[in-house]
Amino acid sequence: MENRSQWGTRLGFLLAAMGSAIGLGNIWRFPATAYENGGGAFFLPYLFALLTAGIPLLIMEYTIGHKFRGSAPRSYSKLSKGMEWIGWWQVAVSFVISAYYPIIIAWAIMYSYFSFGTKWGDDPTGFFVGDYLNLADAGTFGSMVPSVLWPLLAVWAVVFIILGLGIKKGIEIANKIFIPALVILFLIIVIRAVTLPGALEGLDAFFKPDWSMITEGKVWVAAYGQIFFSLSIAFAIMITYASYLPKKSDITNNAFITGFANSSFELLAGIGVFAALGFMASQTNQEVSEVVSGGVGLAFMVFPEIISQMPASGFFGFLFFASLVLAGLSSMISISETYVAALQEKFNISRGVSIACGAGLAAIFSLFFANQGGLNLLDTVDHFINNYGVALSGLFEVVAIAWFAKSLKDFQNHADSVSDIKLGLWWRICLGIITPAVLGYMMLQNLKTELTGKVNAETGALEFYGAYPVDYLFNYGWVVAIAAILVGALFTAKKWPKQPKEAKKSDDKEVAQ
Ligand code: ALA
Repeated sequence: MENRSQWGTRLGFLLAAMGSAIGLGNIWRFPATAYENGGGAFFLPYLFALLTAGIPLLIMEYTIGHKFRGSAPRSYSKLSKGMEWIGWWQVAVSFVISAYYPIIIAWAIMYSYFSFGTKWGDDPTGFFVGDYLNLADAGTFGSMVPSVLWPLLAVWAVVFIILGLGIKKGIEIANKIFIPALVILFLIIVIRAVTLPGALEGLDAFFKPDWSMITEGKVWVAAYGQIFFSLSIAFAIMITYASYLPKKSDITNNAFITGFANSSFELLAGIGVFAALGFMASQTNQEVSEVVSGGVGLAFMVFPEIISQMPASGFFGFLFFASLVLAGLSSMISISETYVAALQEKFNISRGVSIACGAGLAAIFSLFFANQGGLNLLDTVDHFINNYGVALSGLFEVVAIAWFAKSLKDFQNHADSVSDIKLGLWWRICLGIITPAVLGYMMLQNLKTELTGKVNAETGALEFYGAYPVDYLFNYGWVVAIAAILVGALFTAKKWPKQPKEAKKSDDKEVAQ
């Protein structure tokens, strides 16, 4: 009888995997990325990236977790001792992300409240960086911002409780509530957005294809980057989640469902965001291109402006920011589960101690992002850890498995033995050739831009990422990204206990259902 914790139902696993995939990346990253990279024409490289890298890699990560039934480092080490460090590297990357991801959720909690009475007033940008964050110059940290700190602590409390309740009674139940709620809230927003005046112009700007961009390498790089982040690939997450699947679970079908559900939500977010941008452009007599923005700027500067102009602004503002909170929380839980599972197995400790140590330390680190310099720090760490953590470790993962361990055929047989859809040569070509080639090219392009910098047309000065000071980028960008690799090597040096403790059925706390 298997003693490892398991998902209670197939739907439970699927909702948890979708909850991990559907996150802040879908709502604020995808719409602007698609728009800047050819609009309607972006869907071609996006679909190509989904089918040649996203879903094939998801199938591979599900297979690894399902076959080896361990956290990412444990699963990699069972595959080949020399690969354990890739697992720890990805766990370290997730650890770093889990230190700043909850900050954005904390902002969204405050903004759900600010929505009532549109407390950001006439100048949402000034309100966000000034009144709310009291932003300090890059390189300085200033003092703690209480209105970020308190919601941050609330986010951690929720994360601790859900993780503490275990896989089935905690993560599964939370996602069964969060994901349907998120879809309902978001559908209400999208329906409202597309019925606003000017919505059509926004959608036209979003979908109008600029085919001339399709030949540009950067567009393909953007598509692959988006798919990786959005599908939570190379985060150690999907391996960990799949390790809790019962033996008889369809792997390939589950990967297709997760991949398509995530992309559908992404498309829905694109439609909602651009309909709203079209509305704002029409209200302010501007072109859609003048109001577009992505990331933090979209959610906390442009959206508040749109919300202010909408009828029933408090209600719709609340729905938008509550959606961000739900999407963020379900991803945050999955990011933290990677190190909770890995530490528990490696150090033979109980789940409770692992949560206290792993998530406790991440919570302490997250305080660095809750001060006046937090936004700049977040922006820098996010940029470097995504490019030289997620994408680079993804490249190592796929090359190590396809070319060194030569495990693809074996994994194919494993996935086929439990799945309705049978994998073919296409799957091995995608992972063995196409994905490494595109990711390798992507890495070179990113490094080139990173290291050569850009000359500022006005000042003539050479600038690097975000125009931050070079030593700042070194200390909080490069050092953090490199430290994640070193941590990988360090944890690998310690031997596995003979019978590692793992998330057990008994860890699933009894709660009323
Ligand atoms: N996949 C998660 C997101 O999109 C990390 O935010």
